[in-house]
Amino acid sequence: MTERQRREAIVVRRATQGDAESIATIHVDAWRHNYRGLIDDDTLARRDFDSRLGTWRRELELGAEVLVAVQRQAVVGWARVGAFRHPPETRPDVRSTTQGWAEIHGLYVSPSAQRCGVGSRLLREADSVFTARCFRNVGLWAFANNLAAIRFYESCGFSDQKLDQNFEINGQPLVERLLARRL
Ligand SMILES: CC(C)(COP(=O)(O)OP(=O)(O)OC[C@H]1O[C@@H](n2cnc3c(N)ncnc32)[C@H](O)[C@@H]1OP(=O)(O)O)[C@@H](O)C(=O)NCCC(=O)NCCS
Repeated sequence: MTERQRREAIVVRRATQGDAESIATIHVDAWRHNYRGLIDDDTLARRDFDSRLGTWRRELELGAEVLVAVQRQAVVGWARVGAFRHPPETRPDVRSTTQGWAEIHGLYVSPSAQRCGVGSRLLREADSVFTARCFRNVGLWAFANNLAAIRFYESCGFSDQKLDQNFEINGQPLVERLLARRL
C-alpha cells in the first residue's frame, strides 16, 4: 500500500460505547510512548488501563463527544471535542480570550499509527463539527514541553497564544500552553 493510499484509508466517525476499550488503550499507550521524559515515570506507570477504561465508559455514557479514526477496521486515534472548558480556577485573561471558543479536549493517535495523517484527519473532522455549530475559533492546551505535539498543531495552522497556565499531575508541576486558530 502506498503512503497516499494509507492516508486515504482513514475513516472518521462518532465514537460509541463499544469504542471505550480502544480509546483507553490508545490513551495509555500514547502517554507511555510520547510522554516519557516529559512526565515522571511514576506518573506514567500509574496511568493504568483499567482506570482509564472506567473513566471512558462513564464519559461516553454521559455523552462525551469523541471522534474515532478507523484504519483497516481498527480504531487508531481519537479526538474529544466540545466547547472550551472553564473550570472555576480559570484565570480571567484566559476566560475572556477563550469565551465562546471550541476546544480540542484531547487528541491521541496509537503509537504504531503516528505520522500517517491520522491526527490531522481527526482535526479536519473536528473542524466540520465546530463550523456546523458556528464556532469561529478553536483552542487547546498542550504541555509546553510537548514539542512534537506543538509542531504538529503548528503544521495544522495553530499558533501560540502566549497564555500559559500552571498545572500539576501527582505533584509534578507542568506548564500548559494555549494554542489556537480561527475556523
Ligand atoms: C500529536 C499527534 C496527535 C499527531 O498525530 P499524527 O497522526 O502522528 O500526526 P500527522 O501524521 O497527522 O502529522 C501531520 C503533520 O504534523 C507534523 N508532525 C506530526 N508529528 C510530529 C512530530 N512528532 N514532530 C514534528 N512534527 C510532527 C508534521 O508536519 C506532519 O506532517 P508530515 O508527517 O507529512 O511531516 C500524535 O503524535 C499523538 O497522539 N501524540 C501523543 C499524544 C499527544 O501529544 N497529543 C496531543 C496532546 S495536546
